[in-house]
Amino acid sequence: MAEITETSEWLSLEEHFKKIKNIHMKDLFENDIQRFENNHILFDDFLFDYSKNRITEETKKLLISLAKSADIENWRKRLFSGEKINFTENRSALHIALRNRSNKPIMVDGEDVMPLVNDELSKIRKLSEDIRSGSWKGFSGKKITSIVNIGIGGSDLGPSMVCEALKPFGSKGITPYFVSNVDAADLSQVLEVCDPETTLFIVASKTFTTQETMTNAFSARDWFLNTAIKKEFIKNHFVAISSNLDEVIKFGIHSENIFVLWDWVGGRYSLWSSIGLSIAIFIGMENFEELLAGGHDADNHFISAPLEKNIPIMMALIGVWYINFFDFSTLAVLPYDQCLAKLPAYLQQADMESNGKFIGRNNEKVCQQTGPILWGEAGTNGQHAFYQLLHQGTQIVPSDFIMPINSNYKLGNDKNNHHNILQSNFIAQTQSLMTGKSMLAVENEMKNEINKNPDLKGLVSHRTFEGNRPTNSILFKSLSPKSLGRLIAMYEHKIFTQGVIWNINSFDQWGVEYGKQIAKLVLPQLESKQVTKAFDSSTNNLINYINNNS
Ligand code: F6P
Repeated sequence: MAEITETSEWLSLEEHFKKIKNIHMKDLFENDIQRFENNHILFDDFLFDYSKNRITEETKKLLISLAKSADIENWRKRLFSGEKINFTENRSALHIALRNRSNKPIMVDGEDVMPLVNDELSKIRKLSEDIRSGSWKGFSGKKITSIVNIGIGGSDLGPSMVCEALKPFGSKGITPYFVSNVDAADLSQVLEVCDPETTLFIVASKTFTTQETMTNAFSARDWFLNTAIKKEFIKNHFVAISSNLDEVIKFGIHSENIFVLWDWVGGRYSLWSSIGLSIAIFIGMENFEELLAGGHDADNHFISAPLEKNIPIMMALIGVWYINFFDFSTLAVLPYDQCLAKLPAYLQQADMESNGKFIGRNNEKVCQQTGPILWGEAGTNGQHAFYQLLHQGTQIVPSDFIMPINSNYKLGNDKNNHHNILQSNFIAQTQSLMTGKSMLAVENEMKNEINKNPDLKGLVSHRTFEGNRPTNSILFKSLSPKSLGRLIAMYEHKIFTQGVIWNINSFDQWGVEYGKQIAKLVLPQLESKQVTKAFDSSTNNLINYINNNS
């Protein structure tokens, strides 16, 4: 298969780019009063407005052709059918099965996985109900009030982000905590506020060998036994989620307290699985199943909507347009809802661990840029941190603005309504980033000041905004388990689509292994405190400096 960059579709886009790269969106809107109507997709209450992008109808046509040249329609089928598209690990990528509310069979190695999925969901439901009802007791007879999820990466970011986002749906009698960093501060600060008699630890690790997670899990077990004394009490306070049952048993977790994860579930796509146990306990199984239903809605949309009316497809193509033709290499995710403050961090793993690749499916180095550097912050906080760069920086940052129209929190009155103020900022930012403000407009604004003090004319350029900074706007009625499920799954499928266009495997993560290997070589040098010469001069001196000052 020819490199995507050698296809006629790609070459046509390169020609098209030369023609339209300097067009200002302001002019596109002025020349087409229907621009919004022609450049948005409404899926139930999920509005995706992509009209504030540097695209024309011709651009869209060429991008859709590019997606077709990458055979995206067949790749979608392969993803959903359970084909082992994660070819470097010979695995399927079947996170869609975890939320397959239709229960239609999905085959892996000739076996329908849905009975396995449903069995696991029943186990999750039972534990959720037992903890929430108080029928599950700690070793001293008290009910569980703290859930401590010990995991990292996909075994942390998803549950942590969802529990934060859906706090209004959470049980008031149960507090979820998330420990991920091997830095003792993370676990220590949680243990300081937990009681061994009323805490359930969830050790979440697909491999059950991840250094940070196992270090934290053993320390948590020591902390617990320091009070409980008897190992038999571990059964009341530790459960595990893993695909490595041997290691779980070795750790000392009771076989009835093990939740399984299959190899066809990637870590960063696993919140829909038993990794979501902390979510189901905190918000309840009905709400967890609503989250799954939202993901399933997005799956149905992705697999069936025509490409030009397909939200993940259009998100992906617009991203390719900026990354590969405009050379805009980052993507800002800006959720205007404080409950979604952890969404950017979650999507960092989802996107950057999926598409931060430089080798293609042909085992050769790719010929184009791949995954964007994804970052972001909740609005309006970001406006007081980095929007200066978004508006007047030399680097243009395509941004996804996301907002539930109705907040789960009510404060203020008609005149001083928090949510109206938040909404006004959301709208104002996307509008001003698009239009900018001309020198003439600034001069008019400053007319009186300049008349009084002509020196101020030098300020005009500083207060000018070029605009033409592209944004997507995503709106939905409210932040609920279902709307959050839809949002997350839309991004998963956007990431998958970009991976298909770049012809890379979005489902492995060999890049995280090398650092871990080196860390295993460095650790003994730090433990021995001996002067080391094993590495380069920087590394040797850093190790020696640490040893001399620890
Ligand atoms: O970051 C590397 C990684 O393997 C992620 O893909 C994964 O989500 C995380 O580490 C944790 O892995 P595990 O669930 O096996 O502990």
